[in-house]
Amino acid sequence: MRILVVGGGGREHAIVWALKKSEKVAELFCAPGNAGIAQLAECVPIAVNQFDELIRFAKDADIDLVFVGPDDPLADGIVDAFEAAGIKAYGPRKNAAEIEGSKIFMKNLLKKYDIPTAKYETFTDYETALAYLREQSVPIVIKADGLAAGKGVTVAATLAEAEKALHEAMVDKVFGDAGNQIVIEEFLEGQEMSILAFVDGETVRAMVPAQDHKPIFDGDKGPNTGGMGTYTPLPHIDQAIIDESIANIIIPTAKAMVSEGRPFRGVLFAGLMITKDGPKTIEFNARMGDPETQVVLPRLQTDLVDIVLASMNGHLDQINIEWSEEAAVCVIMASEGYPGSYPKGRPITGLAEAEAAGALVFHAGTAEKDGQIVTSGGRVLGIVGLGSDIAQARARAYEAVSVIDFEGKQSRTDIAAKALV
Ligand code: AMP
Ligand code: GLY
Repeated sequence: MRILVVGGGGREHAIVWALKKSEKVAELFCAPGNAGIAQLAECVPIAVNQFDELIRFAKDADIDLVFVGPDDPLADGIVDAFEAAGIKAYGPRKNAAEIEGSKIFMKNLLKKYDIPTAKYETFTDYETALAYLREQSVPIVIKADGLAAGKGVTVAATLAEAEKALHEAMVDKVFGDAGNQIVIEEFLEGQEMSILAFVDGETVRAMVPAQDHKPIFDGDKGPNTGGMGTYTPLPHIDQAIIDESIANIIIPTAKAMVSEGRPFRGVLFAGLMITKDGPKTIEFNARMGDPETQVVLPRLQTDLVDIVLASMNGHLDQINIEWSEEAAVCVIMASEGYPGSYPKGRPITGLAEAEAAGALVFHAGTAEKDGQIVTSGGRVLGIVGLGSDIAQARARAYEAVSVIDFEGKQSRTDIAAKALV
């Protein structure tokens, strides 16, 4: 098969890496890709939102299957566009991707079908939202309705912080139209867990769970990022909690989407909080997580192409999906200034040494300039260590991180520490 992956981050590098292992793959392309992906696939310089150009390329290159990585093109209907052009594309259609594209749609769906999530109210008017906010207790959570590159959520510890977030979203429009409507929701306390699942209609095949670290600094301090590191498995979380999350949240949500006439096909990603009252939904994403993918796919034993094809052909329920018992830890190396503005073009050294030490080096924001690999994004690299347990995987990841260098690099030193206590 000739496969095109759409996207160019660490998630897509891990997807390309997993697809590359399949004997069914004859040729791999990635649009736009990055400097790491270029070592495994032919990168095509087309942006993820240029649907017409992507379709033209897919036709010219005889692409058999498209695998879409990121949220934005899914929310904008990239799968519908490929299908209309007669090209098979894996991912949810626009009406199903709305589960991520609109937090209000997601919250209302969960309320209607009685699926556990934080209590909330939605607002379109700033003054009304502000009046409501002033009657609430803190901490409290303010969320822009639409997609905001993982930055549309503020967990406010004080009323002043909450008011500032509300003003920024609704009046200053720092997230553009994504902030036209907002959700104000109850703060949930507990451990977070990400469960990704291959979903086709009512069929749900959960992947192994992972845990992300959203804030930029150690100890979960500082502003939220797209994710600074992940690990799997979660030895400190009971299997019963994981099973309960799948049975009470993910499966009912897949069924609800079918009932709403929006059957979901693709990877559905539940962001969950394990509260003292059991698991509750924080968010749904309509795609694989970044950097969850970088730790989950290395544990996948089954051919990813077989899973995607089974899903596309309507028999996801019949395929046996196997996972290794290994642990995986991913540490993100980010640019100076991230998640704010950051410089680009800084030379990166030590990549080959890190790989030689046994780590998987997934590129996120990198580019090649005059034969040298340089930084070109906020999150630059995801370094994955594998091992027989979290301690070993973690030691291997950090050892590899220590040999990679670029000016202003920042990474957390406490990824997976919660699993060690
Ligand atoms: P989201 O983009 O919706 O996943 O939110 C980003 C991060 O904000 C989550 O990973 C949580 O750490 C935090 N968060 C979101 N909603 C809540 C909530 N209701 N209670 C506590 N933390 C939350
Ligand atoms: N790591 C969280 C996300 O992909 O949204």
